[in-house]
Amino acid sequence: MEDAYIIKGGKRLNGTIKLSGAKNVALKVIIAALLFDQEVTLKNIPHIVDVQELLHLIQLLGAKAQFVEKNTVVVDGRSLNSNKVDFLHGSKIRVSFMLMVPLLHKFQMCYVPNPGGCRIGSRPIDRIIEGMKTLGAKVDYDSDTGFYEAELNDKPAGTYTFPKVTHTGTEFLILLSLFGKDRITLHNSAEEPETDNLILFLNQSGAKIERNGKKITIDPIKSLKRDNPFEILPDRNEAVTFAILALATKGEITISEISPSLLETFVKKIKEAGIGVAYTPKTMFRFYFKSFVKASHIETAPHPGFMTDWQPNWAVLMTQAQGESYIYERVFENRFSYVGELRKLGAEIEFVKIPPKDPKEYFFFNFDPNKKYNQGIKITGPQTLHGGVLNITDLRAGATLAIAGLVAQGESVINGASILERGYENFIDKVTSLGGDIQRA
Ligand code: EPU
Repeated sequence: MEDAYIIKGGKRLNGTIKLSGAKNVALKVIIAALLFDQEVTLKNIPHIVDVQELLHLIQLLGAKAQFVEKNTVVVDGRSLNSNKVDFLHGSKIRVSFMLMVPLLHKFQMCYVPNPGGCRIGSRPIDRIIEGMKTLGAKVDYDSDTGFYEAELNDKPAGTYTFPKVTHTGTEFLILLSLFGKDRITLHNSAEEPETDNLILFLNQSGAKIERNGKKITIDPIKSLKRDNPFEILPDRNEAVTFAILALATKGEITISEISPSLLETFVKKIKEAGIGVAYTPKTMFRFYFKSFVKASHIETAPHPGFMTDWQPNWAVLMTQAQGESYIYERVFENRFSYVGELRKLGAEIEFVKIPPKDPKEYFFFNFDPNKKYNQGIKITGPQTLHGGVLNITDLRAGATLAIAGLVAQGESVINGASILERGYENFIDKVTSLGGDIQRA
């Protein structure tokens, strides 16, 4: 089978989508489950490539981690028997780095390869390393082997202030702090709903974690325990992808089982763009195209801001909007890889300078004045897109190109389907259920 989708676009997509579990909770909760001295059952885990990669990686470390039913995973960390994460598989997924925490918990010393993940900018982990050191760990990187070597000989302790917010970094240090010497405080922490879902899982299992805005305190516990399965949050990124997919084709969509607070910022922007939104606790969200889409501007930011993962999808919607829309990406460098691909379909997009603000403050990555960045685009619409041959470079850009193919008149080939499938469960089935014409080549 080729690693590509063939899409025949130009049809209005309508229907209802049942969301899968959130990838960015599933991966972290699976790793956290290795900290228990028992079997842990996790429900609503999406059957996606990133999860399968992680389960494989954990199995290579000697522990049990497998799907026992369609979306149920059982993890048992008691049989962990290696403190070295496999280089090849570890470097494929970014969260492999987080395996450091259960390995340090069990062996006090471990080796973990430089993490992989989508190539959206340089993605350093300096804030995490600094945090680990502040809490008492020793960490060194060996550039010859590509491995980090970490040691934790005493219980962690202290207070750490993230110089800038980091989502996985916050979750990493929460896990590291669970079995501390004394209360550990993290300042300037991430406020993502996925982070709170991980905290919920841990607190329901005996952890003592409290959030007060960006301040998180973790009081020490001896062990984690739970008797019942944990069901993870629905995926807000998937919700946004499918909402935009339907709306960019001038259709309508109902998205079930998602709490309004997860989509608040998105809904605000969608209303600004002149799109219809109805919400009732029974029918949940219904998004519907009215007569036209209005150009509107976004800048990405950590929660509660407009999420960086939504921005690439949003760009396709704006190709169908009346007028000029601007997108400023503040969270990641290099998250506009899709621009050249959308241009191949006839989209009118140009790179623009960011508003005159202090870039060191404005961006959430480590800004280097000697580097050239492209962090802003202007999209002029509406444009009739036509089919083409496109290449996926990262997960969210992948969904963006699939949406664009479904909007475009005619046939498109989208190469790199497996990159999209790292994060979207049953993508083809879901698109087909809305009336889209998409097949694996
Ligand atoms: N950063 C540093 N140093 C660090 C940590 C982060 O410079 O030590 C930079 C990053 O390079 C980035 C910014 O800080 O420019 C924010 O990064 P963050 O750590 O918050 O992101 P992440 O934890 O690596 C997670 C999700 C992303 C999502 C972001 C923002 C997972 C596995 N990944 O990434 O999801 O976009 O938070 O919410 O949870 C995706 O699902 O496609 C995806 C990329």
